[in-house]
Amino acid sequence: MFQFSRFVVGLALLATLAFALPSSAEDDKDPSIKEIMTKAHKGGDAILGKIGKDLAAKEPDWADVTKLSKELVGLGASLAKNKPTKGEQESWDKLTKSYNESAKALLAAAEKKETKDAKEAHKKLSGSCKGCHDAHKGK
Ligand code: HEC
Repeated sequence: MFQFSRFVVGLALLATLAFALPSSAEDDKDPSIKEIMTKAHKGGDAILGKIGKDLAAKEPDWADVTKLSKELVGLGASLAKNKPTKGEQESWDKLTKSYNESAKALLAAAEKKETKDAKEAHKKLSGSCKGCHDAHKGK
């Protein structure tokens, strides 16, 4: 029992460390779907939430939006390479492709400092959750 709890604490510590690492250190291996969801989407401190806050500002911090959008493009590419536990491959390919197109559109808009286009791409990404979860989340 004691051994086991130490093991669990160790795992928790490792997980914390993994998330604390800068994204550049993770570029060479594809994170799992769960890791991608947590990093990209889960809560206001995830990438998508941060971009939303940036874009809501009168003068968005484009350097930050660009940096975060690049991370999203990278995570989107990894997402496409993952296999969901539920649903058809064809549907997954379609949904991840559309996700990646929006992520790239967001990056392009950020680089051009186009608030309207950036907001539109952000909105598309923010609205992508349910369709994909209905088709592919769960067993
Ligand atoms: C292209 C498909 C796809 C899109 C788009 C998508 N998700 Fe997911 N998401 C998944 C799948 C598949 C899982 C289940 C992963 C698993 O359990 O292995 C998941 C799981 C999650 C989880 C649970 C993670 C955990 O720790 O178990 C959260 C939170 C989440 N998604 C948030 C979001 C939000 C918010 C959005 C929209 C902004 C979104 N997702 C868009 C496919 C998607």
